[in-house]
Amino acid sequence: PRVAVVFGGRNSEHAVSILGAGSVLDVIDRSKYEVIPIGIAQDGRWVLASGDQRYAIEGGELPSIDAQGSELALPSGGGSLVAYDSGRIPVELGEVDVVFPVMHGPFAEDGTIQGLLEMAGVRYVGSGVLASAVGMDKSYMKLVLAASGLPVGPYVTIRDRDWRTDRDRILKEVQELGWPVFVKPARAGSSQGISKAHDLHELEQAVEFAREHDPKVLVEAAIVGREIECAVLQSPGDAPPQASIPGEVLVHGGHEFFDFEAKYIGDDMSLSVPADIPGDVAEDLRVMAVRAFEALGCEGLSRVDFFYTTDGRLILNEINTMPGFTAMSVAPQLWAASGMPYAELVDRLIQLALE
Ligand code: DAL
Ligand code: MG
Repeated sequence: PRVAVVFGGRNSEHAVSILGAGSVLDVIDRSKYEVIPIGIAQDGRWVLASGDQRYAIEGGELPSIDAQGSELALPSGGGSLVAYDSGRIPVELGEVDVVFPVMHGPFAEDGTIQGLLEMAGVRYVGSGVLASAVGMDKSYMKLVLAASGLPVGPYVTIRDRDWRTDRDRILKEVQELGWPVFVKPARAGSSQGISKAHDLHELEQAVEFAREHDPKVLVEAAIVGREIECAVLQSPGDAPPQASIPGEVLVHGGHEFFDFEAKYIGDDMSLSVPADIPGDVAEDLRVMAVRAFEALGCEGLSRVDFFYTTDGRLILNEINTMPGFTAMSVAPQLWAASGMPYAELVDRLIQLALE
């Protein structure tokens, strides 16, 4: 089969996506698949990735898509992609059997590229349009999870118009959450645009900061506890999805939370697998992770993030429908610890999409 690995994208997780794609391209079985690496530049152009494309952080410098390569026409139906050479002469790339969008965030993990691929009749790895859209928007995600009986933490959604016209009411609602709070863009990832606020003054600044990413903002009560994550994988055929062994995310180096620096630049985050929690808690958590996957109607792979509070409760923080996907990212490491090495996970995801 011909697999298009698509990465980059029009959002602030552009570089994170390229890191993941680099790992996928390293391990994908080329005796089994014909691989076409496709980058989406920050300006939205699709390009056939050149041999010079960089996939790693070098000297603290994040990778990005070099849009100099041949430009691609968007998939237009029947599973074919067309590339143009520099003279704008189309070069038929031919049928693609499956697209692996190793991308996160808006225009990538939010149902938009999924919709485009549906329209084009191309199969793809991961969740479909609805699950992706719900998973991307933290307010709808919480509504769906809570409606399925899953424990979500207290939060306030601030819509654009509310912030401009009804600020006093919003501030009052937020105060009822207690301090500190986390302020997040409703639709972003990799901790971008997130900050912690300890009072009303910091809150206003934090909301403005989050609004640089998204006019819709979420304010969440800070939950005192440990961060435990679990990956869920669709099974072949009609078998139910499987949960990985849970792991605990630990942060070092004085970060107040898992910010972008800690996650990708500073190497200040580590994963402890299996998480050192009581066996019955781990079992509950795995059951909830699968329920969350099914509540949204996810496909492929998701990572479900929990807090295990100091008083022994589990709170479901979020589900990521296209979690960080380098070989060293949390979900791949959780599956490796659960007996499925990264290369096998990549193969499984492609096979699921082809089913
Ligand atoms: N949004 C990042 C990639 C994650 O959830 O891992
Ligand atoms: Mg997260």
